[in-house]
Amino acid sequence: MVARTATLHSLDELIAAEERAFVDRQPRSGALHARAVRSLAGGVTSNWQISRPQPVFLERGEGSRIWDVDGNEYVDLHGGYGAGLAGHAHPAVVEAVRRQVARGTHFAQPNEDAVAVAENLARRFGLPTWRFMNSGTEATMDAVHLMRAATGRDLMVKIEGGYHGHHDSVQVSVMPEADEVGPAGRPHSVPSSSGVPSAISALTLVAPFNDLDSLAAILDEHAGEVAGLILEPIMMNAGIIHPDPGYLAGVKELLHAHGALLTFDEVKTGLTVGPGGVTALSGVEPDLVCLAKAIGGGLIAAAVGGSAELMEDVADGTYEMVGTFNGNPLSMAATRAMLEQVATPDAYARLATLAGRVREELSSTIAAHGLTAHVVSAGAKGCVTFSPAPVRDYRDFLELDDRFNHLHFLVQHNGGVFLPPWGKTEQWLISVQHDEADMDRFLANFERFAAGVAAAA
Ligand SMILES: Cc1ncc(COP(=O)(O)O)c(C=O)c1O
Repeated sequence: MVARTATLHSLDELIAAEERAFVDRQPRSGALHARAVRSLAGGVTSNWQISRPQPVFLERGEGSRIWDVDGNEYVDLHGGYGAGLAGHAHPAVVEAVRRQVARGTHFAQPNEDAVAVAENLARRFGLPTWRFMNSGTEATMDAVHLMRAATGRDLMVKIEGGYHGHHDSVQVSVMPEADEVGPAGRPHSVPSSSGVPSAISALTLVAPFNDLDSLAAILDEHAGEVAGLILEPIMMNAGIIHPDPGYLAGVKELLHAHGALLTFDEVKTGLTVGPGGVTALSGVEPDLVCLAKAIGGGLIAAAVGGSAELMEDVADGTYEMVGTFNGNPLSMAATRAMLEQVATPDAYARLATLAGRVREELSSTIAAHGLTAHVVSAGAKGCVTFSPAPVRDYRDFLELDDRFNHLHFLVQHNGGVFLPPWGKTEQWLISVQHDEADMDRFLANFERFAAGVAAAA
């Protein structure tokens, strides 16, 4: 790593040097991007693929590894923004898809796999009744609609710094700037995207994470008007932020006392923190759970699970939960394989061993180099947070210097490990196909990063 040389002194210089190396390693990605900008908006297929110093065009993936169009091989800890718990081309998923693709990929009628998937999710998450859709955004949109339909109320509460997809009701205070956020105990509702009518954003109230008093005040102020609250029970779009002991149970109690409902958005946490998500880990059962990303084993799948009473509003058409590709046979075949053959107790035991080793060795490296940082993890997910103290909410997260994570991303990338390119917001995912050799490479890169940062300080 360039950072080890004593001639480079500042973080910015280290970043500039790693960015040059990054671009030099990827001439074909650079050329493809230059071509792509003429026909694809921004040269990418989602705005979050626009990353510094340039997007990486990938060619293929197998097991725990991916290859870019320049032939560089990486240990994949990006995991497609946390969807890749199965790793790439997992034999069970490949077989399920191969079988189904030859038998027809779309009917818009229910099939047996859908029933098996619903039954499996009911066992894992404890919620009896399920429906399927195609993205996390659709899942949280349906959950928000259903909470409103069931209560006959318009107001929603979400957590400051929480991301739940790109529909109107949740595009509020996702990543607000310090000069927009308002008082800590009563955050402003800050629109997070253009194109969302202010009349709709105004229906979403914002509470700080880990703060029951603030939630109680909001519910009192709007007594009888709040349909429900949606939250990530472990926040995973602001690094990783764990709930304080008792917080989730307290949220549920407050909401129910006000006749309002609770949705856990487990799109990211879902199968990645454990077999039944935070729902099973915490023992706090919400009214609705949203799943997506990892459940499809790399294919396109999402789900909403709910209490029998609430899902009866779906069954009887009080709320029309619909979609042409919902429960699509290809997705259901892959999801069934994921649940029955990939996300198994053995796989979770192996993941725990790898994740435990990573946590311990990163912590030792941090201590050895005197970095102001700590490791936060949850099951197969983890991140390094560059602060001395645990981050408890979005306001703490705002204080973090993004440059450390960006440099870490670059050093890992140039060293053959692909992390998500989004600095302090994102975290790694270990898949069921990763092994000790993958972790060796990751840890060795981190050692070089830590030595570089310590030398530059
Ligand atoms: C917690 C959470 N909810 C919902 C979504 C939206 O999912 P999708 O991108 O599949 O629409 C995301 C995406 O990152 C997410 O992290």
